[in-house]
Amino acid sequence: MKKTITLSAAALILAACCTQPKFDGPAYLNPNAPIEERVEDALSRMTLEEKVGMTTAQSKFSSRGVPRLGIPEVWHTDGPHGIRPEVLWDEWDQAGWTNDSCTAFPALINLAATWDKEMSMLYGTSIGEEARYRKKDILLGPGVNICRTPYNGRNFEYMGEDPFLSGKMVVPYVQGVQQNGVAACVKHYAVNNQEFQRTQSNSVVDDRTLHEIYLPAFKAAVQEGNAWAIMGSYNLYNGQFNCHNKKLLVDILKNDWGFDGVVVSDWGGCRDDEEAVLNGLDIEMGTWTNGLSGAASDSYRNYHMADPYLKGLREGKYTTKELDDKARRILRTIFRTSMRPEPNYGRFVCPEHYQAARDIAAAGVVLLKNDNNLLPMNVKEGAKIVLVGENAVKKMVVGGGSSNLKTAYEVNPLEGIQNAYGDKAEVVWVRGYVGDTSTSYNAVDTGQDLTDNRTPEVLIAEAVEAAKGADYVIFVGGLNKSAHQDTESYDRLQLDLPYAQEDVIRALAQVNDNLIVVNISGSPVSMPWADEVDAIVQGWYGGTESGNALADVLSGKINPSGKMPFTVPYKYEDGPIKTERQYPGIKEEGEEFWQTHYDEGIYVGYRWYEAKQIPVQWAFGHGLSYTTFEYGQAKAAKASMTADGKMTVSVDVKNTGDREGAEVVQLYIADPASSIDRPVKELKGFEKITLKPGESKTVSFEIAADALSYYSVEDNGWKAEAGEFQALIGPSSADIRTTASFELK
Ligand code: BGC
Repeated sequence: MKKTITLSAAALILAACCTQPKFDGPAYLNPNAPIEERVEDALSRMTLEEKVGMTTAQSKFSSRGVPRLGIPEVWHTDGPHGIRPEVLWDEWDQAGWTNDSCTAFPALINLAATWDKEMSMLYGTSIGEEARYRKKDILLGPGVNICRTPYNGRNFEYMGEDPFLSGKMVVPYVQGVQQNGVAACVKHYAVNNQEFQRTQSNSVVDDRTLHEIYLPAFKAAVQEGNAWAIMGSYNLYNGQFNCHNKKLLVDILKNDWGFDGVVVSDWGGCRDDEEAVLNGLDIEMGTWTNGLSGAASDSYRNYHMADPYLKGLREGKYTTKELDDKARRILRTIFRTSMRPEPNYGRFVCPEHYQAARDIAAAGVVLLKNDNNLLPMNVKEGAKIVLVGENAVKKMVVGGGSSNLKTAYEVNPLEGIQNAYGDKAEVVWVRGYVGDTSTSYNAVDTGQDLTDNRTPEVLIAEAVEAAKGADYVIFVGGLNKSAHQDTESYDRLQLDLPYAQEDVIRALAQVNDNLIVVNISGSPVSMPWADEVDAIVQGWYGGTESGNALADVLSGKINPSGKMPFTVPYKYEDGPIKTERQYPGIKEEGEEFWQTHYDEGIYVGYRWYEAKQIPVQWAFGHGLSYTTFEYGQAKAAKASMTADGKMTVSVDVKNTGDREGAEVVQLYIADPASSIDRPVKELKGFEKITLKPGESKTVSFEIAADALSYYSVEDNGWKAEAGEFQALIGPSSADIRTTASFELK
C-alpha cells in the first residue's frame, strides 16, 4: 500500500514538472515548439520586403532580422581564433570598446598539429562561449582549406594538407561552438587555396581532386559536425564565383550533402544579382566594403540581394521559391542561436579559457629534432639562458587580416621562459635580426616598440657574443603576420626563413652546442641549416598563452606530442607546383580572370612526395616525444571484409621510455593493386593515446569501405575496388612500423 502511494505521488510530481504551461503566443515565439514549426509560422507572417530584408547585411557584421515580429538581427564575428574586437556600425574601424579584449586561442594550424579531437572540442566549446558572451550568432570559422602550396598566406588559419586530418579535426570544433547556440560558419568554400588574386582567380580542378582533396573537410563539417553555416569563398570555380556557385552550393552542398543551414558570402564576395538569387547564397555580407568597388558607406540597399532582388521579384523575374528557402534557412539559424530555447550567456576571458588556450597550444608544439636529448631543458641554479630572435618578443595575435585580435594579454616566448626559469636562471634576450617592426594592425596596438636600426652584422655579432658560454641558447624566429608572411591578402614569396635568420642560426650553432631553434610559423618553412643544430621545435601562433605553452614543452613540464599537419620539403622546387599555370595562375591578354590549374590533381602534400619518392625535411605526421614508443604487430580482425561491412585493425603501443607521454598512432591505407592511379597511401585514422612509462594500450581502428575508396568520375561517386588492401600503422607517414593486410570482397 505504502509503495503504491509513493509511486502515485512520484507520478504526480513528474506530471507537474513535465507539463509545460500552455503557450498562448504565436508558434514562432514558443521556445518549446519544434524548430521547423517555428520557421513555418514565422515565414507565414512575413512580408516580401521582410524576407528580402533578411538576406543582406545592415552593418559591417550584422544582417537583418524582422523587427516587427520581434525576430532579432543576426550578429556575425570573426573568427576563427578568437572574437574580433567590435567595429563601428558601418566602418571597419574599431569601435573603441574597452571590454572586448578576448582570449586568443591558438591558430587553427596549431590545433591541427595536436591531432587530438578532444582538444578540438575544448577549442570549439571555449571559443563558442566567448562568442555567446559577446552576443554573436555566427562565428566566421573554422577554416578548412587545404594547404596546397606553402605560399598560401592563410595556411595558418586552416588545418593542414590532408583532407582526413582536417575533416576529423573540424567536427568537434563545430560541435563545441554550436553547443553554445552559436553557428560555426565553415570557410572558405571551396578550392580557395591562395591569396594572390583571390577575388579574380578561377580554380580549375578536376572532379576527382575536388572530391578527394578539397571537399572532404567541408563535407565532414556539414554531415558529421552538423554545421549551421558555410561561407562561400572569394575565388571562382568552374568560371563562376563561389558565393553563388551552382555546382558547389546547390548541387553538392545543399542537394547532395543535405545542408540545411545558411550560406553566407565572404565579405564582398557576392558579385552578381541573378546568380546570388538563384545559386544558393542566403546572406550577402560586405558587398562594396572590401575595396572591390569602393562604394560609399551605408550602401546596403544597393546590395545584389537587397533592392535589385526586390525589384526582380516585383517584376516577376524571380518567384518566391528561392526567397522562401533563404528565409527559412535564416530563420532556422536564428531559432538555433539567439532565439534558441535554452538560455546560455557564455563566458569571456576566464581562467578556464586561458588554460584551454595554453593546453591546446602546448599539445600542438612539434618536436622535430632532438639529438643528444638536448630537450627537455635541464636548467641548474644560476644557469644562463639566452633567447635570440624577434619572435621571442613579438606579439603575434596582432596582424594577419581578419583573424587579427585584441587580447586581454599575450605571453610571448621570452616571458614564458622567464616565468619558467626566471627565479633560478639568468634569462637574457638579444634581437638577432630585425624582421617586421610593425606593432599595430587595424587599430589594435601591442604597445611594443620594435624599431632597431642596427645592421644585420651588428645584430649577429651581438647574438654570438651573448650565446658564448650560455647554458642554453634558444633561437625563436620564423614568420610573422605581416604582408607576404602568414597573413590574409598576400601570399608568401619564399619557402626559406626571411630576414637573414639563417645566418643568425648558423652563427649561433658555431659558438654553442646547446642551441634550440624554435620556428614559429603557420606554414612550411625550409630548414637547410637543420643538420647544424641538435634541437628543432615547430611552434605556432599560440595565442594568449603562447609563450607559457612553449616553455611548458621546452622545460618538459609537458611532453611534446604534436605532429606535423603538413610536409616540409627541403626546397620549394621539390613540391608539386611546377608551373605558373598551377600557381599563381595565368591571366591571358584580354581575359578578365586568372586561371589557376590544379594540374597536380590529388598529389598534394605527402601524396606528391611519396608518389615521386622525393625525400623531405619533415614528413607529414612527424613529431617526436621525450619518451619512446614501441609498436606491436598490427592485426586485422579477419581476413576479408565486404563493401557494406567493417574491418577492425588493431595494434599495441607501449611507452618504452621513462616518462609519461602521448603518441598519435596513425593509420594509413594503401591499395597496392588498384586499376587506377592512387596515392602510395592515405591517412584514414589516428588516435592520440597517453601512456605511463612501461604502459601499453591497444589502439583499434574501424575501417569501412569509405576508407578504401577513391572518387570515380565515371560513376560520379566513391568506389572501392575489390582486392588486397594494406593498413599501415606508425608514428608518422615516413615511419610505418607495422602493416596488416586484408581483402575487400
Ligand atoms: C575574409 C573572411 C572574414 C571576412 C570578415 C574576409 O576578408 O576572407 O575570412 O571572415 O573578411 O572579416
